Amino acid sequence: MKKIAFLLAALMLLTAGLAGCGGKDNTAPDNSQAGTQEPAADAGSSAADDADNTASDGGTLVMGTNAAFPPYEFMDENNEVAGIDAEIAAALAEKLGMELEIKDMAFESLIPAVQGGAVDVVLAGMTVNEERLESVDFTESYATGIQVVIVPEGSEIVDIDGLDGKTIGVQSGTTGDTYCTGDYGQENVKQFDNGALAIAALANGQVDCVVIDNEPAKNYVAANAGLQILDTEYAVEDYAIAVAKGNTELLEKLNTAMAELKEDGTIGGIIEKYIPAE
Ligand code: ARG
Repeated sequence: MKKIAFLLAALMLLTAGLAGCGGKDNTAPDNSQAGTQEPAADAGSSAADDADNTASDGGTLVMGTNAAFPPYEFMDENNEVAGIDAEIAAALAEKLGMELEIKDMAFESLIPAVQGGAVDVVLAGMTVNEERLESVDFTESYATGIQVVIVPEGSEIVDIDGLDGKTIGVQSGTTGDTYCTGDYGQENVKQFDNGALAIAALANGQVDCVVIDNEPAKNYVAANAGLQILDTEYAVEDYAIAVAKGNTELLEKLNTAMAELKEDGTIGGIIEKYIPAE
């Protein structure tokens, strides 16, 4: 009996396949077309449409990021978004049978973008915190970040207490911004659109220090002579992928795929490629 049922099922699958492209399940065949195109930062395709595809066919996974945060995300020599987050997203998309499209935007636009459906996921070295959990849902964490302080070599700031009364540069809308504004007062905090601009201001003497995540900090210090990272941790945080609140279907798929990619060493390998263990 079982054998017959199996044969019948196989036959049905076969006919469905012959009848063309997945039949009923394929609710948006024209979008699967878009999914085969090259990822384009300025693509006009709506993630809301693409997101519908995630349920039934492959479709496109639209990722939002702020590509001024090396080694998690940066523009490579071909002017494409590269880095840990882009590679993890590519591996996840592949697991889910989807194409990946990456949209680069201001860090502060990322949560509104995922809330409004302009992107499906945010991978941006984004820290999970209570405030954000009110607006979006997060997957399991895939990396740890530490807020550190960058100062000019020889600065009189030697620890966190030294930040008192100093002018602190931060990336607007980040956790570093929230901590510093809360701890040292808005009037002492200068917000920049991205980490690179904050570092430029530090190099020019417009700010006394910059509070930023440790891995970008190492990159910026390596690229700018005369700066150093204080040997003190302001905060330790978890990075995760944000999805629209209530998008449990995508969240569960991502968590399952991520667990597999952790298990088989893919995620560890991507991180190790950009952050070689010392
Ligand atoms: N981890 C910090 C936060 O979530 C900073 C992230 C900045 N990321 C970026 N791609 N610019 O607030």
